[in-house]
Amino acid sequence: MFTLRPARETDRAALYRICLETGASGQDATHLYTDPLILGHVYAGPYLTHAPGFAFVLEDQGSGEVTGYVLGVPDTAAFEATLDREWWPPLRELYPDPAGVPRADRTPDERIAHLIHWPPRAPQAVLTGYPAHLHIDLLPAAQGGGRGRALMTTLLDALRGAGARGVHLGVGESNTRAQGFYQHLGFRELSRAPGAVTYGLTLTAP
Ligand code: ACO
Repeated sequence: MFTLRPARETDRAALYRICLETGASGQDATHLYTDPLILGHVYAGPYLTHAPGFAFVLEDQGSGEVTGYVLGVPDTAAFEATLDREWWPPLRELYPDPAGVPRADRTPDERIAHLIHWPPRAPQAVLTGYPAHLHIDLLPAAQGGGRGRALMTTLLDALRGAGARGVHLGVGESNTRAQGFYQHLGFRELSRAPGAVTYGLTLTAP
């Protein structure tokens, strides 16, 4: 049995761990990274710190362990501006920009360090219709039992309640399972770049 509840500060380590254990297009990325926190610094931590009202977790009632999360923001542009001011500067002190290393030679850690220095911006063409965005990750034991849908429903209701008219997300091109899940939930493909697909969903009033 699982409980779905708002995330708390004490969930931070679990969020970082789940992010890493699902970070290779849905598969465990632990073996890929030297620094076990670097992925979480980009894809989990900033949401818990700067958008805690849109962070929800699954807690296993037996073990008390957090086994999944959904993290989102209703206004991506405002979130990006906040991170520019408050989240990235201290991380840039910790992780040097691998600018001198040719792109093709960068390690996975260096590729994420590059994102810390040069965080990607959601294109305006996407933000116009889909200003919110999200990330969702469940550990294998929590997958496939309707919990992903439950987390999404909770977050989408919260985003709708905050006035967001649409939500987008980016998913690895090879993560066909997650893509099937998003399509099943009504998301449609907005664009495709090498390695990544962007999906969007219009949030209509209840
Ligand atoms: N194709 C078609 N339908 C699917 C698929 C699929 N590949 N996967 C799930 N569904 C359907 C289910 O049949 C179910 O249908 P129903 O509710 O109408 O009966 C519905 O989608 C919900 O399925 P859940 O069981 O809730 O899905 P799950 O709990 O496995 O969550 C998720 C899906 C989030 C992709 C999960 O498997 C996961 O965390 N995977 C690993 C991490 C990952 O890949 N995360 C996405 C990264 S991209 C990003 O965060 C933006």
